[in-house]
Amino acid sequence: MTRVEVAAPPVIALSGIAKTYRRGSRETPALEETGLAIRRGEFVVLLGPSGCGKTTLLRMIAGLVVPSAGSVSIMGEPMWQRGKRSTAAGAHLGMVFQEPNLFPWLSVGANIGLPLELQGVPKQARPQRIDALATLVGLDGFQEKRPGELSGGMRQRAAIARALAGGPDVLLMDEPFGALDAFTRDAMNLELQRIWSETGSTVVLVTHSISEALFLADRVVLLSPRPGRVVWTSEVDFPRPRSLDVQGQQRFQEMAKEIRGRLGVGG
Ligand SMILES: Nc1ncnc2c1ncn2[C@@H]1O[C@H](COP(=O)(O)OP(=O)(O)O)[C@@H](O)[C@H]1O
Ligand SMILES: [Mg+2]
Repeated sequence: MTRVEVAAPPVIALSGIAKTYRRGSRETPALEETGLAIRRGEFVVLLGPSGCGKTTLLRMIAGLVVPSAGSVSIMGEPMWQRGKRSTAAGAHLGMVFQEPNLFPWLSVGANIGLPLELQGVPKQARPQRIDALATLVGLDGFQEKRPGELSGGMRQRAAIARALAGGPDVLLMDEPFGALDAFTRDAMNLELQRIWSETGSTVVLVTHSISEALFLADRVVLLSPRPGRVVWTSEVDFPRPRSLDVQGQQRFQEMAKEIRGRLGVGG
C-alpha cells in the first residue's frame, strides 16, 4: 500500500524577496533576492552579523517593511495585495522587539491586555486572559505594577505576554534579549523554550549570538553580510527540553565552530 504524503504548506513563505532602501538618490541594498519557508511550530533563528538585514527580513515577515521584489505570505495569505497590507495575514503575527516598548503609565496587566482590547474582547473577559498570560510568562502577581517597577527581564516577559495576547500563530522576535545581562539572558532563553513548547506557536527569532541561536533553534538560518541573503541553514536536533548544559556538548561546540567559520569570524 502506498501512502501519499501531502506536505503541509509553510506557515511563512518568502519567495524572491529583496529590499533596497531609497532615501532621495541614496540607495542601500539591505537584502538581495532570497527566500525561506518556515513550517508550523518550527523555532527558526535568523543569525548574521550586525547590519546584514536581519531586522529588515523580520519586519518584512511582519508586513512592516514593503519588499522591493518578491512575495511574503503567512498561512497561505499574501501579505501584500495591490500595495495594501493584508489585515488577515497580519492577524496571525505577534512581535517582540529588542526594547519592550511598554506604556509606562499603564499597569503591566493593562499593557499585556492591549491586544485583547483592540480585538474587541469584552472588558469582563479580559482579566482572566491577562492572568493566564502573566502566569505563562512567569509574571503572576505583577499585573498591578507599572513597567518601571520591573527588572529588564521582567519587562521583556511582559512584552512577550502582550505579543501572545492576540493568540498569534507566529511570534516574531528581534533580538529580544539583546539588552539583558548574560544571566538574565540565559534564564530568558530557558523561559522562551518553555513558553514556545506550551503555546505551540511558530517562532522566528533574530540574534547575532551563535550560542543563543543553537540553544533555541530547530533550525538556524544564516544570512550573509549586507546585502543579506540566506546562505546556509542547518537543523539543530538536540533533544528538548534543552538545559543550558547542552552548550557544553562537543556537538554544540562543533556546530558553533562551523557557524563562526561560515560567518568569517575565525575559530
Ligand atoms: N529605514 C531604513 N532606511 C535606510 N537604510 C536602512 C533602513 N533600515 C535599515 N537600513 C540599512 O539596511 C541595512 C540592514 O539593516 P538591518 O536590517 O537593521 O540589519 P541588522 O538587523 O542585521 O543589523 C543596514 O545597512 C542599515 O543601515
Ligand atoms: Mg537588527
